[in-house]
Amino acid sequence: MEFFVTHQAVDHYSGDCSVAFVLKGKSNENRIIQNYLDLHRFEPKLASTLMLGKVEGYKSKRVLVVGLGESPLSQKNYIKALKSLSSAMSVSKVKNVVIPSIEVEDADEAWLQITTARVLKNESYKVKKVGVKEEISDIVLEAVNIYSQNNGASEIQKGVAIANGMALTRELGDLPPNICTPTYIAETAKSLAETYNLECEILEESDMESLGMNSLLSVSKGSIEPGKLISLSYSNAGNEAPIVLVGKGVTFDSGGISLKPGQGMDEMKYDMCGAASVLGAMSAIAEMNLKVNLTVVVPTVENMPAHNASKPGDVVKSMSGQTIEILNTDAEGRLILCDALTYCEKFKPKAVIDIATLTGAVIIALGKHHSGVMSNDQKLADALKSSGLSSLDTVWQLPLDEEYDDLLKSNFADMANIGGREAGTVTAACFLARYAKNYSWAHIDIAGTAWLGGSKKGATGRPVPLLTQYIMDQV
Ligand code: BES
Ligand code: MN
Ligand code: ZN
Repeated sequence: MEFFVTHQAVDHYSGDCSVAFVLKGKSNENRIIQNYLDLHRFEPKLASTLMLGKVEGYKSKRVLVVGLGESPLSQKNYIKALKSLSSAMSVSKVKNVVIPSIEVEDADEAWLQITTARVLKNESYKVKKVGVKEEISDIVLEAVNIYSQNNGASEIQKGVAIANGMALTRELGDLPPNICTPTYIAETAKSLAETYNLECEILEESDMESLGMNSLLSVSKGSIEPGKLISLSYSNAGNEAPIVLVGKGVTFDSGGISLKPGQGMDEMKYDMCGAASVLGAMSAIAEMNLKVNLTVVVPTVENMPAHNASKPGDVVKSMSGQTIEILNTDAEGRLILCDALTYCEKFKPKAVIDIATLTGAVIIALGKHHSGVMSNDQKLADALKSSGLSSLDTVWQLPLDEEYDDLLKSNFADMANIGGREAGTVTAACFLARYAKNYSWAHIDIAGTAWLGGSKKGATGRPVPLLTQYIMDQV
């Protein structure tokens, strides 16, 4: 699927399909289209569509009418309309299309171009079934032309880069856990490094032992799959301090000895979506050739029960020197992230943001709408909130008071790895905060937003739009 900016009026487009947007209460400027709308009793409800054949005055073979609901058109509603436009085009096997520009509330043309390209490209994502040859249908949407009055630089390629990053994130998430292992994630990072000429370092378990990463290793040791600590660096801003993104990469979370219940356990293959999202963001930024320095760090392990797995009550010493009493082996994300956060200090970061499917509690608190954000730096939290709003990949902030941190007290170590039933998302973040004291840090809990369950089961590609937007906003 390719995207182009066109300056030619939409009705002059002689391809397969032209889109006509209609707002409620406004009749269409084109009288013939309006006649069709009346004939079909078409109500321009948000995201309703009507495919027409040849329309007088339009050079294209067909015209797709898309309802936009009430004016003014909000950013959210524009995206809803785009999604229905995308499915109507795939039902009608449209090969190429022109989309008019439309006024969206609080949005400029750059936003419109990035968003249109990102959403349409992301909608075309298809799950690859293992061992099943992809059906190559000869009728797919090949070209999307986006109309613009202005001659300014096109922002479309940025939207494409974000969608490509999201596709990588979704693919990794959707892969079965017998394929997407820590080794597979490391191979994916290596191939990204090759494509974009990034610096790549992969620490093996023996390297991590030398560094004293006993907390991370305590999770990995119960699995036959060797754990890895991956770092990838993109440098395009001289010797500026880098932004560092850390992604939780548990390729399967059985819970370990604190075994999870069987129902829905397959979804714990998505416990590496933090890792997948930082790789996706890296891919997007590198594809854009943005002038920043970005490093991603991925601790990746499999959490399994085994005779040599960690047991509740075990005490380990993390790389930072702080000791941890492992009261629940299912609170493994923080155990691998804490050593990764200590490791990050070597990059002398401007800011560190970790992204993790960390707690079931965040789904109870925020559902599948906002990701949770917590930070030791209010400016960083505010920046993430604002990037979330403009990319429509939003976060909601939760507190980090010391009263919550007190819940991590242990009689046998510097801290326990769980804080009890209450405020589970916050106590998990308090645990991480103890390892992020030397830099500006934020934690994004994506347990609710990284994938969908049920009949729509699949990775969403979030929070790649948020992370990419945040980095773009720093330039
Ligand atoms: N990966 C899970 C969090 C999770 C659970 C994400 C369900 C999405 C859906 C994490 O490792 C975990 O198991 N967390 C525990 C923490 C508890 C033991 C303190 C949880 O949320 O139950
Ligand atoms: Mn767990
Ligand atoms: Zn987990």
